[in-house]
Amino acid sequence: MASGSFEAIDSLARAFPLEIVADLIGFSGHGKDNMLRWGQAAMQVIGPLNQRTQESFPIAGELYGWCSSVTGDDLTPGSIGRGIFDAESRGDIPEGSAGHIIHQYLGAGVDTTIASIGNIVALFGRHPEQLQLVRENPELVPAAFAEVLRYWAPLHIWGRTATRDVEIDGVTVPAGAQLGILLGAGNRDARHYENPDVFDVTRNPVDHLSFGYGPHGCAGQGLAKLEGHAIVSALARQVKSITITDEVRVPSNMTRSIDKLHVAKVVAA
Ligand code: HEM
Repeated sequence: MASGSFEAIDSLARAFPLEIVADLIGFSGHGKDNMLRWGQAAMQVIGPLNQRTQESFPIAGELYGWCSSVTGDDLTPGSIGRGIFDAESRGDIPEGSAGHIIHQYLGAGVDTTIASIGNIVALFGRHPEQLQLVRENPELVPAAFAEVLRYWAPLHIWGRTATRDVEIDGVTVPAGAQLGILLGAGNRDARHYENPDVFDVTRNPVDHLSFGYGPHGCAGQGLAKLEGHAIVSALARQVKSITITDEVRVPSNMTRSIDKLHVAKVVAA
């Protein structure tokens, strides 16, 4: 890898999952061309009903429309997407569900992964001694990615509906209540993590909440880890230091991510 400068979000954080998730699901052309806009809109419409939500509805609708009309033949043979349609044809999953599953993958797997990859670069730029630790101890790669996810959760909040009355710390949450579960706050709970506001790649917080938890915990976390580990590992092997001069965040309804990250200088190993 040559030393130099680059903009890390467009050229790495967005470029990398775009290739991986598109190949995994097996689409190209129209689907791939729109994946970033669709993925972003799918997250924006989950939040409060504000201007961002309203502007994103038509775009999220395009994704829904595409997923409703796509067939197995539109997807690359051997891809996971084609496999899901094959499972539907065999009757292994309910009729009409394949398009919905693909919709879930596209909606949930794009913006979240982009956020986490941007965060890897930004946090290693801010904490050069932590990059150095991973360089010296490559076995820390999974722990370092888990710490990136704990420290800066891509999704700070997610939803639950109470299916029965539940008592939490002396307060009864009634059946039917809508709850916001504060994943990012839980990740910084001092009762659980020592010095929670310190970014420490040796911590190995395997129980962080950034993938949610329980039966509906993130279905794509295996893939997300593969992607995150690949990026952390490549940086640790090939980069001595990262100097960041500009980090721009834009408000988003759901995903806390960096929109532009100017790496003024990356020194190759
Ligand atoms: C670092 C990247 C990612 C983060 C931080 C993340 C985070 C999350 C979170 C917080 C949830 C809600 C879990 C809950 O309700 O307990 C979720 C659900 C989900 N995620 Fe991810 N995700 C990531 C990547 C992906 C990828 C790459 C895919 C697939 C390609 C994916 C597919 C899904 C699906 C299908 C669900 C819904 C699971 C269900 O409701 O049963 N995610 N994710």
